[in-house]
Amino acid sequence: MTSKIPAPDKAIRGPALTFTGDPFASGVEDTMVYEPDAIVAFGGGVITHFGPADQIQSQLPEGIEIENYGPDALISAGFLDSHVHFPQTPMIAAFGEQLLDWLNKYTFPTEKKYADKAFAASVAKVFLEENLKNGITTSCVYCTVFPQSVDALFEEAERLGMRMAAGKVLMNRNAPDYLLDTTQSGYDDSKALINKWHNRGRLMYAITPRFAPTSSADQLDSAGALWDEFPDCYMQTHVSENLDEVAWVKELFPDRKGYLDVYDHSGLCRPRAVFGHGIHLTDDELSCMHHTGCAISHCPTSNFFLGSGYLDVFKVTDAKRPVRVGLGTDLGAGTSFSILATLNEAYKAAQLNKKALTAGHAYYLATRGTARAMYIEDKVGSIAPGMEADLVVLDMKSTPIIDYRMQFAEDIHEALFIQMTLGDDRAVQATYVAGKLQYKQATSR
Ligand code: GUN
Ligand code: ZN
Repeated sequence: MTSKIPAPDKAIRGPALTFTGDPFASGVEDTMVYEPDAIVAFGGGVITHFGPADQIQSQLPEGIEIENYGPDALISAGFLDSHVHFPQTPMIAAFGEQLLDWLNKYTFPTEKKYADKAFAASVAKVFLEENLKNGITTSCVYCTVFPQSVDALFEEAERLGMRMAAGKVLMNRNAPDYLLDTTQSGYDDSKALINKWHNRGRLMYAITPRFAPTSSADQLDSAGALWDEFPDCYMQTHVSENLDEVAWVKELFPDRKGYLDVYDHSGLCRPRAVFGHGIHLTDDELSCMHHTGCAISHCPTSNFFLGSGYLDVFKVTDAKRPVRVGLGTDLGAGTSFSILATLNEAYKAAQLNKKALTAGHAYYLATRGTARAMYIEDKVGSIAPGMEADLVVLDMKSTPIIDYRMQFAEDIHEALFIQMTLGDDRAVQATYVAGKLQYKQATSR
């Protein structure tokens, strides 16, 4: 958080939702803040004021522009996506396969195209436009093995002023030759990208071994060594997504205790490690994640689409040894850019585990929870003075059926649950990045 808060130059008004803590640890009652008529003011890219409109209005400079979104809106911190593959945007909705066949049949041939920087730039543009259209202001992104695909994404994210983590995929085996790097070239390319992009404005680098089957032990060790040199980078990879994958890792690494131990052995279990999926992790592995400060990215639309399974988010966050959890779209195995649609599937994943994910837990996951999983909850993910001014404004009556259903909503919890069950990109009327309006729905009221 910045120590000195600048003067505001713009404010927005409407009902607002945010979290002051973790409902998985302390309950929704004590952590969720709903203000039915709030003002959020910002200047210099950060939030300067937040509170009930009748208290805040008199504190603002005279003549400041206040955009009033009205009583049917909801102002929230911008959504975060802790696991997504931007190069898979052109292959979302690929038919008929589970993880390993899906990678071979659809993913690898698509990722080959990113040797062409101009193609990568064209997809990065569509990808980030789609993020903003869905209220996503920060993500943790896989690029491809080609360094120019990382440049393409970061160039566009920088133009938009977004806080974003991303990295070049490391993969030196078990994939077509045209996608392979070597331990040395992967290390060198990643290091050059870190020097170019990490902590440039709001951009952050994520060291990105794709997953254990496509990296030799030597490459994983080299990723760990690189992380030692740049310890405030991220590390992102996949773990225990699919049972065939888990069995394959056992064959490939017979000396390791289990899948997570492959990464731990290479020094990859630490704070700012973001592991996609983790559906089939054992109790010991969850315990290791807790003690080492790693996070899991929960990607329900992907897990259902690829038939991988369904994460038990309440087990993962068990107070005895809570593991940090963020929400992920995991496009293109994930089926939607919409965070509301992703929460809808997170609810169903919990149901299959015989548990109920309340709207409070869900919106926390989409905002402050994912920021906490990424260790940036002091910067983004909630609305408070000093936080970066990344905001999404929802329309709570975005379709005729939602409008109709909302007449019967008795409180904010029910209203939020209706949005996450029935809502999609049509519910996003505006997205602000560092205080700048970067998306406004053409048809919003
Ligand atoms: N495991 C390794 N690579 C991938 C990928 O691109 N998507 C998903 N869902 N899982 C993976
Ligand atoms: Zn993934």
